[in-house]
Amino acid sequence: MENLEKIVGDALQQFSRIDDATGLEQAKARFLGKAGALTNLLKGLGKLPADERRDAGSRINAAKDRLEAALAQRRDALAQVQLDARLAEEALDVTLPGRGAGRGRLHPLTRTQDRIEAIFRSIGFDIADGPEIETDWNNFTALNNPENHPARSMQDTFYVENKDADGRPLLLRTHTSPMQVRYARMWVEQFRHAAKVPPIKVIAPGRTYRVDSDATHSPMFHQVEGLWIDEDVSFADLKGVYTDFLRRFFETEELEVRFRPSFFPFTEPSAEIDMAFGAGPNKGQWLEISGAGQVHPTVIRNFGLDPEKYIGFAFGSGIERLAMLRYGIHDLRLFYDGDLRFLQQFA
Ligand code: DAH
Repeated sequence: MENLEKIVGDALQQFSRIDDATGLEQAKARFLGKAGALTNLLKGLGKLPADERRDAGSRINAAKDRLEAALAQRRDALAQVQLDARLAEEALDVTLPGRGAGRGRLHPLTRTQDRIEAIFRSIGFDIADGPEIETDWNNFTALNNPENHPARSMQDTFYVENKDADGRPLLLRTHTSPMQVRYARMWVEQFRHAAKVPPIKVIAPGRTYRVDSDATHSPMFHQVEGLWIDEDVSFADLKGVYTDFLRRFFETEELEVRFRPSFFPFTEPSAEIDMAFGAGPNKGQWLEISGAGQVHPTVIRNFGLDPEKYIGFAFGSGIERLAMLRYGIHDLRLFYDGDLRFLQQFA
């Protein structure tokens, strides 16, 4: 028991010198832990004569209380030091003027796509979305592209190293036209027990890819596909719907639109749709904005429909082209540079 005062003295001294929480807990264990100095004294009580035991016990317990109190105090003090340090480190000068939060805005191509979707939705078109990695079958074969068509070459198309589950080649879609195949087949499957397949009426905007890069071509660009199939949808409907779309898109009745005969494997007859654009030096120039045509019977058959019964039109338009015309932009690459001076002009 002579030890008691010395143990308490040692403990208090150690506690007061330690300045980290872990060290403090280790020190506590040395005195109050299972094999701690004070605990050992308590364990020795049994060996004392009965008349000394009581007095010694209460002295040891009093010492224990003192140490516990000293520990609690030291813990608080350490926590306070830590808090002070953190407050100093994280101090804010609330009197400084704010930096201002830059407000984001939609990219001009997103705005253009939204606009296109709103117009077509208002005349009953569904909006569909599909994968950018396509099968060679959806992208080419189902669309009546011959095996040796140049678009199938590696110079024009990004092929993917992996094959699909059936071992067929995969590629980055070169146009949104495979969405015609995907959507129509999904639709036909859905109504396979119906007497008549309801009209297919959809647009599918999205990214497309070609091995091409200059002021008017980017390896990644955007198209919007349109498809309307029913029992009596004609080329005249195509002209009406598309011309009306352009009038609404450009917000003028005075647009000059021209359907120029052309060729695509998946339409017959086919047309390219041009628009006269611009004021100033560009006035009177024509710019191609879309391919279009009456869907080829072979393609209708690939949709799973009878070409004797179902007929309609499709178109595939360049979203960048439409955006460039609407906003008067001359270099396609501006869309992808991420230059704020350009982007901030589209509020
Ligand atoms: N897919 C064609 C292209 O990228 C454009 C096109 C032409 C789409 C005629 C069509 C269409 O749907 O009917 O050049």
